[in-house]
Amino acid sequence: MNLEKIANYKNFLAEVLISEEDLQARIAELGEQITTDYKNEDLLLICILRGGVMFLTDLMRHISTPHMIDFMAISSYGAGTRESTGQVRINMDLGSDIFDRNVILVEDIIDSGHTLSAVMSLLETRNPKSLKICALLDKASRREVEVPIEYRGFDIDDKFVFGYGLDLDEYHRDLPFIGVVDLDKYTPPD
Ligand code: IMP
Ligand code: MG
Repeated sequence: MNLEKIANYKNFLAEVLISEEDLQARIAELGEQITTDYKNEDLLLICILRGGVMFLTDLMRHISTPHMIDFMAISSYGAGTRESTGQVRINMDLGSDIFDRNVILVEDIIDSGHTLSAVMSLLETRNPKSLKICALLDKASRREVEVPIEYRGFDIDDKFVFGYGLDLDEYHRDLPFIGVVDLDKYTPPD
């Protein structure tokens, strides 16, 4: 494996779409909004692994009302493919019971909508008190299935993005900003 090629992400970074500063400012606003909306209410944040993990940890630092967290792992994309199949598999289910609880799903990006739509349908069968979506990025022009987004970080165009939890062939989730991939210059790790 050519680790140097992977490390030199600037070679295939077309542009920084959302800077670290802008991400953090918007996430603080979302956290404050959630704090207000769930004042004196029990709250469980469910992070969809793995892309939502950076967003969850930053978001929860701005939610100043008591809350718990849990995790769920889903796959909807085949390795290396861009298109959602509409097929969603649960790789890891929740550890908590969500019956009669206020739940917010924390997700990195909503593209076709298939993933979140399937997760919402599944979780509704467990009868939570309320169930909302908090998505950092919304690629609305790609939507195939409607999903109600209560808390939205940024609307973005139809470009493949990476960084801040979102991966490029599982790498680069650690970058503090959201970048656009130059698909002409990017080749997957060998
Ligand atoms: P959907 O089911 O089409 O809405 O797909 C949502 C999932 O696809 C997200 O949770 C991401 O994991 C992945 N995804 C969609 N667009 C991108 C992107 O631009 N970069 C990285 N991952 C993406
Ligand atoms: Mg995701």
